[in-house]
Amino acid sequence: MMNDIEKVVYTKEELAACVKRLGQQISKDYAGKEIFAVGILKGAVIFFADLVRAIDVPVQLDFMAASSYGDSTQTSGTVKILKDLDFSVEGKHVLIIEDIIDSGLTLNYLLKNFKERKPASVKLCALLDKPERRKVEVKIDYSGFTVPDDFLVGYGLDYAEKYRNLPCIGILKKEIYS
Ligand code: PRP
Ligand code: MN
Ligand code: MG
Repeated sequence: MMNDIEKVVYTKEELAACVKRLGQQISKDYAGKEIFAVGILKGAVIFFADLVRAIDVPVQLDFMAASSYGDSTQTSGTVKILKDLDFSVEGKHVLIIEDIIDSGLTLNYLLKNFKERKPASVKLCALLDKPERRKVEVKIDYSGFTVPDDFLVGYGLDYAEKYRNLPCIGILKKEIYS
């Protein structure tokens, strides 16, 4: 699988250090509170599992799956919720955990959707931020790394559902996807 990687961008150790830093910052900000952590399937699962264990306040776990409407004539960024939460977030401190913010369409929609559910607060933590590709504005409260517009896979990020289980994040070789 590593044969398909052009260059490693973040090693397992660098990712662990980043998760530790984010966990400490989140623990400090939420001291005395309980977090309702929402992982966005499937890309976020690896980061989610590591991050929640780096947080030192009580954390409730839930998941959501969403997909952008794959209609090229539609630029409004309509997003369909494929799997909704199991619990109500009313009065809860919601922390959405994502692997990457790219165009921003998914999270722009989900953040609006969450605010309608009357939570006590909503914040976003994203491991990777790819601002060059942004189409709509998204406020990232906790950001791991800002990345250029390369085709990244690993640590949850896929190409055609593969490479999510790589322990590092790397740039996929061009010949694999072209
Ligand atoms: C990817 C990624 C984010 C989203 C970011 O998910 O995991 O959830 O796209 O893109 P955006 O900012 O342009 O909306 P994807 O839809 O590929 O599903 P996956 O998480 O199952 O891989
Ligand atoms: Mn995703
Ligand atoms: Mg994907």
